[in-house]
Formats: sequence, C-alpha cells, structure tokens
Amino acid sequence: MVTEFKWWQQAVFYQIYPRSFADANGDGIGDFKGMIGKLDHLRDLGIGAIWLSPHYPSPYIDCGYDISDYVDVAPEYGTLEDFKTFLTEAHARNIRVILDLVLNHSSDQHPWFQESRSSRDNPKRDWYIWRDGQNGGPPTNWAAIFGGSAWEYDPATEQYYYHAFLKEQPDLNWRNPEVKAAMWDAVRFWLDMGVDGFRLDAVATIYEDFDLPNHSYPLSFDEIPDPNSLSPTEYSQLMKYQVKRPGMHELLKELRALIDQYPGDRVLVGEDEDVTFHGSDDDELHLVFNFPLMRLKRLTPSDIRANQELRLSELPDDAWPCNTLNNHDASRVWTRYGDGEHDAALARLHAALMLTLKGTPFLYYGEEIGMTNLKLASKDQIRDTAALNLYQRMTQKLGKSADEALEASLLATRDRCRTPMQWDNSAEGGFSPSGSTTWLPLHPNRTRGVNVADQLDDPTSMLNFYRRLIQLRQNTPALNTGDYQVVDPDNSSCLVFLRQDTKANQTCLVALNFSEESQSVVLDSEAKSAEVLFSTEDRSGEANLQPNLRLSPFEVLIAQLA
Ligand code: GLC
Repeated sequence: MVTEFKWWQQAVFYQIYPRSFADANGDGIGDFKGMIGKLDHLRDLGIGAIWLSPHYPSPYIDCGYDISDYVDVAPEYGTLEDFKTFLTEAHARNIRVILDLVLNHSSDQHPWFQESRSSRDNPKRDWYIWRDGQNGGPPTNWAAIFGGSAWEYDPATEQYYYHAFLKEQPDLNWRNPEVKAAMWDAVRFWLDMGVDGFRLDAVATIYEDFDLPNHSYPLSFDEIPDPNSLSPTEYSQLMKYQVKRPGMHELLKELRALIDQYPGDRVLVGEDEDVTFHGSDDDELHLVFNFPLMRLKRLTPSDIRANQELRLSELPDDAWPCNTLNNHDASRVWTRYGDGEHDAALARLHAALMLTLKGTPFLYYGEEIGMTNLKLASKDQIRDTAALNLYQRMTQKLGKSADEALEASLLATRDRCRTPMQWDNSAEGGFSPSGSTTWLPLHPNRTRGVNVADQLDDPTSMLNFYRRLIQLRQNTPALNTGDYQVVDPDNSSCLVFLRQDTKANQTCLVALNFSEESQSVVLDSEAKSAEVLFSTEDRSGEANLQPNLRLSPFEVLIAQLA
C-alpha cells in the first residue's frame, strides 16, 4: 500500500505540444522562449508538471516523434540553453518537467540509420532490423500501425527494414546492447540536466518476434485503411508478433533502475494501458494511462463505474492510477463528448471527472479554455503524414474516390487537435507575433471567446472553472489522494462517489449529473450532512445537502462530509 504520496501522485500534469504552444520569434512555430513566457499561465492554473512532447531535432515527418538527435533541441524551438532556462523557470514555479522518450524508433535521418543503411557490413547495420524479402515481397505480412506494410525495401543493400510506424521511423534493434547503451546515455544526459522523468512513447512496440511468423488476420495491410480504427481484439490479432513481445519488462526494469539512481523521485509514465507495466514489485513504470476510459465513445455513469471498478482492482497494490481524456493523437474532449447542444456543460462535466477521480490527471494544452478540434479545409493543410498516407491508400489501394478519401483524412488527421494555442482573439491568436503565418491554421473560435485573454476575468469562464477545480483538488487531500468508493451504484444518470483520506480524516462526495434533466441521488446516511465545496449551480444558501439530493442538469457538485 502507498503510505507517503509522491509528487507525481499529487500533481496535475499538462501536456505541451511545443510546436503549438507559443511562438516568440514569429516563424509560426512554437519555441522555448514562447513557452517560458507562458509558464505563469500554468502556475496560475495550478499545474504541477508538464509533459513536453518531443523537442528534439527531427525532420518532422511524424511531428517530432521521428528523432534525429536524442541529445539536442530542435533548432526551430531554440537552443539547449533555452531548454535549460525553460527547465529552471518551470522549477522556479514548482512545475516539474517530463520529456517524451521515443525508444522504439528513430528518424530515418538519424546518423545511426544513415550509417546502418549504408552497407550490410556497417558496424551500425544491426542497430536496426534488416531482413531479406520472401518470395519477391516483404519478409512477413505485418502491417505498420500507420497503415501499409511494416517493411520497407532499401535498394542500396537489397534488404528490408522494419518500421512499426511510418517508413521514416525505422525501429531500433533493442536486442543489440550498443543501442541500449547509446539510448541510456541520452536518458542520463537529460536526467543530469534535471528533468523530472519521461513519458515513454509506444512502449509496447519495442520488441518484435524474432521468428518472424506471418499473422493470420484475414486482411492484408493493403486492405486495412487504418489499423488504429480496429477493435482492440482485431488489433491484437493483426499485431500479434509486433506488440508486447518478450523482453519489454526486463528493459523497463533496467530503465527504472537507471532513473532510481537519481534523487528527487524521477518518474516514468508509459504510453500504454497495461497494468503489468508497473512491474512485479513497483520496479517498472510509475504510471500507465487509463486508456480504456478514454476509448469509450460516450462516458456514461455506468461505464465509468465499470471502468473504475476494473481498473482499480487490476492495479497492483503499490501502483497508482492515471487518467486522461485527450492528447496529441486524439480528439479534443469538447468535440468528442459534445452533443452539439450542451457542449460547454459536458466539457465541464468531463473536466470535473478528470479532476476528481482517483489518480493523476493529465490535461492537454487548450482544454482549459475549451479548445475544440479544427476540421482543416483542404488536403494542402494536412501536416500529419499518417493522414496523408491514409488518403493515398484509400485512393490508390482501396479504390475510393478522392472526395471520400479527403473526407476520411480530414476527419482522421491528428492535426485536428494540434492547432496553435489560443491566447487571445487576434488573427494569430496571441500564439505568434502579428503578421506571422502559423504552421497550422488557428481555430476561428478564438474570436468567439475561446482564448485565454477573454476568459481570464470572466468568473464563469471555462478557464476559471479549471482554475477553481484544480485549486480545490490541490487544497483538499481527500480529492487528491483519497480512496474511491461508489455511492448510488445503480443511478444511470449520475456518477456519485466518495473520496476518502483517512490520514487527513476527510471525506468528499462528488456527484456528477450526466443528463440534461435534474436528477435525484440516493445518498448513504453518512453522506447527508455535508458542506458544499464546489458546484456549477448556486448552492450558497445550503449549509447541508438534503437527504433527497437533487442535482440540476449536468451539475458538478463536490461536498465535504461532516
Ligand atoms: C505515439 C505518439 C504518436 C506517434 C507514435 C509514433 O503513439 O503518441 O504521436 O505518432 O507514437 O512515434
């Protein structure tokens, strides 16, 4: 059992996509000087830690997740000195910083790969995964996660290399000890500089099956438009030999032992939902995401209860939950859960859910002002190569019309949630200096109140909703680290639960009405006398909750039990 809580159990995390957060030099791309200028916004919001999406040099074929140097800063983001200033300034505001660590693959422009592909006997040949073809085709029928074959033929040496994602992201061969040594050097480089941990990209794909069998999924890689759209069962059948192969746990234990040599409780967060990544004795990752919750198309009280029951019961004793509803790969919360009529109320409800459930919450930049997905206007605006590949596959392999392919790509492109942060209502949204052309268009709703400046002084704004709620969470031990216990388990419209901190002798009741009608809630007897701490309704006249508690439509209510 956890006895003393670590910083990463108590902090609210906030993901920054560096390209889209703040552009100080006017090239239309975010940078460290821009981010430094916005740290006060995060401090005032109550953020305790930043997860920074990749900031390394990269040709940006996968928006920075294709790294060409693991120990430097992308020149368009600034210099290593700028990074150090960013880290120091964040720490000065009690904000920790974790970096994105992409272990599975590098960019094909990384000097390691350039050497590896140069000849079959180059000393770095075995740093990547090279195989002979079979019967005039690739070594196996494996699919890449972003579609198409997972093997790319390289005419220079007449062999194929393996890539779990884009062909510009060749997989590193983690069975080669030199790869591991080089990557652990990079990890130490950042830890020595003082970063507080890492978010591990795509942990499950690090190893493949060396016997290289064909999978038996009925469709070939050319027939599947987008492997990411398959159900979890179909996906695991397709990716049988490419994900979660033996070796991962040993590797993560090694990394954990490495970071544990550093003081200050550095943290490892895995881009995965599998609780076995916590290890056998708290010896792998500290946090894995509750993706099953995020995958639900609509969050209903009964689905959330079922998710929590399963999740909390399957977590090893000393592991801590971690919840999120959006990130740079997914639809924004506002868009995903909106019904077109009550979007603002629903967005508040989902924010309240994140900030009151047991576990570390991860927020995504812009959600605090209610940013929404942007549907781009044309194919030329798409920057996400995975979406461009989808377009190409649909038109060239799947016989779809250009219109159909365009519509599918505009809906699927991850650009939809990566548009520049909206700091004010100007043409550049306060993201870039005036007159700059931003790398992705700004959402037009920045002129309709969806921006920081317009929301700052409005007590009813989304921004102030997040601020108040985060502050409440941070000042209320029960909400932050307390246990979770369901109340009124059969209520189909409302999610009601207690958060209980025995050490602080404090219990809070959280009641969320997911319906557009007012609802009654059945409280346990002890929950009836309670002080209202927070509500989206005016409950100022109520000293205590009534036994027959009524919640207004979409109400968020938090109360402390006497
Ligand atoms: C992870 C990242 C995603 C990236 C992929 C390949 O899933 O979140 O953005 O494209 O890994 O690196």
